[in-house]
Amino acid sequence: MSKDFGPMEDSNRSCNASIHDVSTPQRRTVLRGGAGAALAALFAPFHAAAAEDAKPGAPPAPLLGFSGIPPGTDDRLVVPAGYTAMPLAPWGEPVGIAGRLPVWKDDASNTAADQAVQMGMHHDGLHFYPIDGSSTHGLLAVNHEYVDDGLLHTDGTADWSAAKVMKAQAAHGLAVIEIELKDGAWEMVRPSRFARRVTMDSPFDVGGPAAGHPMLRTAADPGGRRVLGTLGNCASGITPWGTYLSGEENWMGYFAGGGRIDAHHQRWGLRKTSWYRWEAHDERFDTTRHPNEPNRFGWIVELDPHDPASTPIKRTALGRAAHEGAWVAVTKDGRAVVYSGEDAQFEYIYKFVSRDRIAPAGKGLTQAQANRELLDHGTLYVARFDASGSGRWLPLVHGRGPLTAANGFADQGEVVVKARQASDALGATKMDRPEWLAIDPKSGWVHCTLTNNSARGTLGHPGVDAANPRANNTMGQVIRWRDEGDFDGTVFRWNHLLLAGDPHNARAEAQGNIDGDAFACPDGIAFDARGVLWIDTDIGQSSLNSGEMARLGNNQMLACDIRTGEVRRFLTGPVNCEITGCTFTPDGTTMFLNVQHPGESPRGHNDPANPRRYSNWPDFRAGGRPRSATVAVRRKDGGVVGT
Ligand code: FEO
Ligand code: CA
Ligand code: CA
Ligand code: CA
Repeated sequence: MSKDFGPMEDSNRSCNASIHDVSTPQRRTVLRGGAGAALAALFAPFHAAAAEDAKPGAPPAPLLGFSGIPPGTDDRLVVPAGYTAMPLAPWGEPVGIAGRLPVWKDDASNTAADQAVQMGMHHDGLHFYPIDGSSTHGLLAVNHEYVDDGLLHTDGTADWSAAKVMKAQAAHGLAVIEIELKDGAWEMVRPSRFARRVTMDSPFDVGGPAAGHPMLRTAADPGGRRVLGTLGNCASGITPWGTYLSGEENWMGYFAGGGRIDAHHQRWGLRKTSWYRWEAHDERFDTTRHPNEPNRFGWIVELDPHDPASTPIKRTALGRAAHEGAWVAVTKDGRAVVYSGEDAQFEYIYKFVSRDRIAPAGKGLTQAQANRELLDHGTLYVARFDASGSGRWLPLVHGRGPLTAANGFADQGEVVVKARQASDALGATKMDRPEWLAIDPKSGWVHCTLTNNSARGTLGHPGVDAANPRANNTMGQVIRWRDEGDFDGTVFRWNHLLLAGDPHNARAEAQGNIDGDAFACPDGIAFDARGVLWIDTDIGQSSLNSGEMARLGNNQMLACDIRTGEVRRFLTGPVNCEITGCTFTPDGTTMFLNVQHPGESPRGHNDPANPRRYSNWPDFRAGGRPRSATVAVRRKDGGVVGT
């Protein structure tokens, strides 16, 4: 039994009205350290957790209290009986900057200036920051990973112009919105003094060893310390000092390398032509003219969502990558450890250990301000998973081992800019596309989704290894490790939580070993406060519509009790979307997630001739343009989600 959340439901219409209501009166909102207190509670268990695994003993009480649902194939979002799921803040909604509230236009005729103050496209990672510890009022920080030009412009990609490039650039980046639960439905508070968009026009500071480095200097920024914009913002993490971390993932597709691409840019995937043709109207994306511009992307960026006037920072000490995102643990002595992965075939998993301890707020500084340079100093490592079940963090430190000037690493700045080449030199393990990570607050085990790697074991590519054990790995796996001693340990133990798959698949190696509901291509993961691991899936559109994946239905979210291994399907998304992100209110009664790219065509983007062909979600009149959106999931009785 399942409760549909479909186009015809009354409850949907009322939700829809709320997301289009831009006349909410202004509210006074004052941060009184509530967000900091809530974050401290979230990270507190990590201090005690590193030492021990969960104790064996009597069978644990069941964590999963909902009725699982079947795979979904309709253009609707489905959740279990007793739950509601309401869209919030879809692409194009004004974020709530006072005096700048351009109404969304379904014919995509909003201008670049409109788009720069509206929700961007393709929502991905997100995090809820309670105001004063509230579970009914807070900020939502959201990533806007990429755009679909067939959907973004009234006439798609025809007559490619500077105006279209500007609008596409404005639809990228980050958003911060203020939201409130009223009468059982979340709505945007507008205007809000917190409301903010970060786009390709927004200045970023550069911190860490590559700040000012010759490889980051350009004609427009000869100092190499000020970058305009952020690209490919995929997964999200948070810090104990109240900031938001966002990974720059598929930035390489924005640059046109021309006919002569050097070995460095080749290693990072630059190609002759770009995916988005920005270079036609914005020369900084023409690498033949501005060869260092790509080096200014591929970083973890840090934003203080509570301070709309603050400048976000690119954290180069954490290494350059096709970063999915970044996730923070805290050592017993109070240093930050940041884990991150690189979502690309045969790339790597990293960890950074801060040199200094996390500072408290004080002396007139918020905690975010007091830790503004914390992630600029420390040691970067890359992971090697050994067949024995142990592993080692290999230091990416200039002058150690092969990372010398003679081998092309002049200094630590060059090591972090060329982190892939440095990891190659150290013999790190080439993984099956690391996506999100999640750290179990109860045990300290770090979980990482390896979404798939169909090239594994094929001609000219690496074969299987213990951590990546399947050739033609279309299904993906969840790997996990625990560092010896503390989160800064350089040795770890590892195993697989599960190998994803479909037990009915004709290929034995694609059947997986899931105990419960079948799924493939795990991507977003997050632990809730009770220790449930929530898993989002991202089967690509071409695979979704193929025979092998058809039985698994639309992309979905599942819950896993990692103590027993049981997996239960919780949510299924509309047609051709991916499900991503997962964040909760402090009391656990609302879960927020993102539905990304509903209606994307099997070719990877919406059909410019008919962008509404596959999906109209979440437009309840039907026939509307599909829009990525956040979804708020609640139990109808107000209970904790998942119980
Ligand atoms: Fe943007 Fe790797 O997903
Ligand atoms: Ca992802
Ligand atoms: Ca995807
Ligand atoms: Ca993915």
